[in-house]
Amino acid sequence: MPDHLERLLEATSVVPAINQIEVHPYFRQSTLLEANAAHGIVSQAWSPIGGITFYRDGSHGSTLEDPTIVKIAGDHDKSAAQVMLRWHLQQGRQVIPKSVTPSRIAENVDVFDFELSADELAAIDALDTGVRGGPEPEDITREKVGLDIPEA
Ligand SMILES: NC(=O)c1ccc[n+]([C@@H]2O[C@H](COP(=O)([O-])OP(=O)(O)OC[C@H]3O[C@@H](n4cnc5c(N)ncnc54)[C@H](OP(=O)(O)O)[C@@H]3O)[C@@H](O)[C@H]2O)c1
Repeated sequence: MPDHLERLLEATSVVPAINQIEVHPYFRQSTLLEANAAHGIVSQAWSPIGGITFYRDGSHGSTLEDPTIVKIAGDHDKSAAQVMLRWHLQQGRQVIPKSVTPSRIAENVDVFDFELSADELAAIDALDTGVRGGPEPEDITREKVGLDIPEA
């Protein structure tokens, strides 16, 4: 999170190369993306197609079935997953999609033959719910996780 970065940068002389964070159309983290960019840190999206949201009881369904994303996908003859990955890449983020399905792995790499318009990127940006799918970073403490770090 931005305040973690500030503390880290004050305490050390090394700027992280990458900050791997939860980013998908339903949780965009624009303030954190801006903080990363301001420090020259690459934003790397985990759960880039919103996989973290597939299994929870929430206020919204799967990003794969989102009408806005499905419409854009149809217009480009691509899948919803490919549109989400392209959205990340065009906004300068690295992506780590996960799949155990060979056809999906191939599909997720096949995202370099189309381009989303500025309006399409903005339409996906507007899907942000501000609701995190994964754990709150502030809650991940050494006490709770229980990991001993001898060097720390
Ligand atoms: N740094 C962290 O704190 C952190 C936390 C969580 C995860 N991660 C990393 O981030 C990676 C991705 O996260 P994630 O698994 O939550 O999210 P994800 O990549 O957004 O979603 C994975 C889910 O999407 C499905 N899927 C993948 N490609 C698809 C496609 N083309 N069409 C339809 N469904 C598709 C997968 O199903 P199938 O596998 O069944 O195909 C799986 O259910 C993980 O591998 C993990 O290493 C990091």
